[in-house]
Amino acid sequence: MGMSATGHYIGGEWIEGAETFESHNPATGEPLGTFPRGTETDVAAAVEAAGSAFEGWRKLSYIDRAEHLWDVYTELKNRTDELGELVTRECGKEINEGRADIVEAAHMVEWPAGNARHPHGDVVPSEIAAKDSYMRRKPRGVVGCITPWNFPIAIPFWHMAVALVEGNTVVWKPAEQTPKCAHAIAELMIDAGIPDGVFNMVQGYGDTGAALVDHETVDTVLFTGSAEVGQGIASKVGGTPGKLAACEMGGKNAVVVTEHADLDLAVPAAVLSAFKTTGQRCVSAERVIVHADVYDEFKRRFVEAAAIVAIGDPLDGDTFMGPLIEADQRERVLGHNDLAREEGVEVLVDRGELDDDEIPEGHEGGHWTGPFVYETAYDPDLRCIHEEVFGPHVALIPYEGGVERAVELQNSTPYGLAGSIISEDYRQLNYYRDHAELGLAYGNLPCIGAEVQLPFGGVKKSGNGYPSAREIIEAVTERTAWTLNNSPDIELAQGLSAELKTDDQ
Ligand code: UN1
Repeated sequence: MGMSATGHYIGGEWIEGAETFESHNPATGEPLGTFPRGTETDVAAAVEAAGSAFEGWRKLSYIDRAEHLWDVYTELKNRTDELGELVTRECGKEINEGRADIVEAAHMVEWPAGNARHPHGDVVPSEIAAKDSYMRRKPRGVVGCITPWNFPIAIPFWHMAVALVEGNTVVWKPAEQTPKCAHAIAELMIDAGIPDGVFNMVQGYGDTGAALVDHETVDTVLFTGSAEVGQGIASKVGGTPGKLAACEMGGKNAVVVTEHADLDLAVPAAVLSAFKTTGQRCVSAERVIVHADVYDEFKRRFVEAAAIVAIGDPLDGDTFMGPLIEADQRERVLGHNDLAREEGVEVLVDRGELDDDEIPEGHEGGHWTGPFVYETAYDPDLRCIHEEVFGPHVALIPYEGGVERAVELQNSTPYGLAGSIISEDYRQLNYYRDHAELGLAYGNLPCIGAEVQLPFGGVKKSGNGYPSAREIIEAVTERTAWTLNNSPDIELAQGLSAELKTDDQ
């Protein structure tokens, strides 16, 4: 099978599959390619290839392993426009976001590749002068990676770039919605001369991912995706001694706008948080919690913006929002809009079902929807302000009282991924920083756009570790505290006697 064909990539070869599935452009419905649907046998073959390649790969120096990644980095840099367009065609994000996906991927390769030449670990003092102690990291082995469609090039590198530089081998199951982007990543890895078996990719659906999670050789699973799937993985893997799953899931993220907010900043921060990527980031905001003193003015301006944000052809530079990823997702989002209505909220903007003239010409087969904005008083029993939608669906929730009340509302969901506060008062900002239950917290910014050199992940139901960006290093390595005695005699710490006492003394 030639390089241009689509297959699984296992042990350095393209492998066909009996069953196939198609990828589609979510803006048009146009088919983009046919890909094999991975089976348990394919996963087993990939894990075996990764297992066999492990010893050879871990034997290389950090710097030699990183050299391969630098080649990937160079290609990502040289081909940003072309790959960005591929992202836009396959996942529907508008072209500036498609491009940013590649830029973020390049950063995520740059970080561990550069880190390879930095000092690693700590030299630790000892009570005993003759003892040398220091920390060593060891790769965990075969790492299973399961990634979502919304960052189809960046997130795979969040997982794989660090895992590879640290000396692991990987088996990757990309999202079934973006197999063509996955295929492009496999080609980058091949061009970079990554040795056979070090990187393996098995295309497919959830059953393929489940086979990877269940495989006894895969001790480490990195997952970014829905809370539903992530929790299943975390509880399954968590019950198996020696196995580890680092999962990053969604959120019901909020922007807090206090009475001391600059509304010229608050309105765009909330619009960007809610509607960029058509609300399909795990960090997208679906709640805006606004102080009563500024509520009416904020609401007027936010609603005005939501009513006119440009929905259109994602390849057109003037578009702000592209389509949703697929028909099922559109049904889900519209279902959540209906649920909010049934729960009796006050709907302020309803572009859920777009008019024909709002859908770009020639794109009638796309999965279009627009902003849905409503207001409601806080009520702990409302499902619409607690359940994640993953779409442009946002609640305006007024509050009275101090920042403490805003943070209480911010924390009133089972999730804790991202959030932001808009305020000119540093005491409010600091209170929020210290009390908002979040993995990623922002002041006077939207709650999107994290950089790779920060740890990315959530607390509560949003995550159980960091399968992403900088802190992933903890998930893909084991640390050994190594101590060497430089003396011919044994001397122990804590005043422990090293004397052997025998009965005949
Ligand atoms: C996601 O939310 O699905 O922080 C990933 C951001 C991006 C990554 C988002 N760097 O918005």
